[in-house]
Amino acid sequence: MGNVVIVGSQWGDEGKGKITDMISKKTDVVVRYQGGNNAGHTVVVEEKEFKLHLIPSGILYEDTTCVIANGVVVDPAVLLEEIESLIDRDVGVNDFHISSNAHVIMPYHRELDQLEEVRKGNGKIGTTGRGIGPVYMDKIGRFGIKMGDLLNEEVLREKLEATLELKNSILTEIYDADDFDIDELVDEYLEYGRQLQDYITDTSYLINQAMEQGDNVLFEGAQGTLLDIDHGTYPYVTSSNPTAGGACIGAGVGPTKIDSVLGIVKAYTTRVGAGPFPTELTGKAGEVIRNQGKEFGTTTGRPRRCGWLDATVVRYAARVNGLTSLAVTKLDVLDGLETIKVCTGYEYKGEVLKEFPTDQRVLAECEPIYEEFAGWDEDTSKVREYDNLPENAKAYLDRLSELVGVKISILSIGPKRAETIIIDKFVD
Ligand code: GDP
Ligand code: IMO
Ligand code: MG
Repeated sequence: MGNVVIVGSQWGDEGKGKITDMISKKTDVVVRYQGGNNAGHTVVVEEKEFKLHLIPSGILYEDTTCVIANGVVVDPAVLLEEIESLIDRDVGVNDFHISSNAHVIMPYHRELDQLEEVRKGNGKIGTTGRGIGPVYMDKIGRFGIKMGDLLNEEVLREKLEATLELKNSILTEIYDADDFDIDELVDEYLEYGRQLQDYITDTSYLINQAMEQGDNVLFEGAQGTLLDIDHGTYPYVTSSNPTAGGACIGAGVGPTKIDSVLGIVKAYTTRVGAGPFPTELTGKAGEVIRNQGKEFGTTTGRPRRCGWLDATVVRYAARVNGLTSLAVTKLDVLDGLETIKVCTGYEYKGEVLKEFPTDQRVLAECEPIYEEFAGWDEDTSKVREYDNLPENAKAYLDRLSELVGVKISILSIGPKRAETIIIDKFVD
């Protein structure tokens, strides 16, 4: 299978967790390379549901090594809770490693994230409030605190002294909020370091060593292409690079080591938070999809905005990620709909746009151009062979693949492991 990057091809929540879990069976190492606990990846194993925010979705297979790499931002309290809840459910967390270079989410990051959203009012991003934007600002601004710093009191204190005065001034003088006490922070975060020290290591070395000895490595993206800080619908994006290139930077591996890039595509579109969404269905049709697809956030519980599949978006994702194949998820959610639409391009001020616009203000004024498909009544969640799918479902998938220009290798028709159809031998 080689080394594979899994990326979300839309605005997140495409079912990356389910597909990562499925492929993990054939994988030696699974790596999260960006984002933090803004992610919510749900994996269903028989009757058990696991909601993972930080730990890679490969953790549910005993023999898989799991890694949180340098590009991830870690809230240590959340991570410890996640480790504990997995152990409580008899999932082993032994072969698990965290990069000493991963940046740490501090309480002032969370606080500033939430205060900034309130300050923005109607212009807010609709963040998850987990401190993601502010911690990446500190990383790029060279004020960051890394996981390795939690193992050394002197270093941690020195770094906090360098940043906390400014943070406290912003909190008290701009936002009229409370400040943070350096001694309390040092004590709290040293304790996290003590509890996590056995997991903290040089993960770039670990991953490259594994590759060297012929292991397969899977890079599990969080969020999605359209939430990418460089290639997404800026400013309504997250603060990292979920796109495939982010895997190299976020894990410390060279691009020559990546063999394939699997784009996860939900059979319709959802988006959480603010920002343009041309195919959004605001009325009853959107509600039908939301209820059938159980489209409520794994992390924040917010109802997800729902709409038709936008092939222009997925074609764009194919380009910026270099997708080599697609995994289409949640096709079963469309069962029973009379007609289904797919957006093939946009109309903008009387002009037809075939490519996804780079300016989100243009996108906000785009009207989708649709192709309409007849639906199907059959329950696709029971189907196990591609050939046994309803003809209309096959026509829908064929056209999607044609519009995007990438083959479909996996089809998911339910949350469980067995509810999956392998179309080509991507996973042998
Ligand atoms: P992620 O963030 O990309 O991992 O996706 P989420 O886990 O946030 O959201 C996907 C949701 O859909 C989860 O609750 C999954 O259990 C569920 N799911 C995944 N694949 C399928 C599918 O093919 N059909 C249905 N009905 N549900 C699915
Ligand atoms: P997974 O990995 C869907 C969205 C938020 C908001 C924007 C910025 O489960 O697909 P942030 O807290 O990152 O600063 O919020 O990004 N967002 C997600 N939407 N799925 C996710 O993760 C998301 N992670 C962040 O709703 O619009
Ligand atoms: Mg999710």
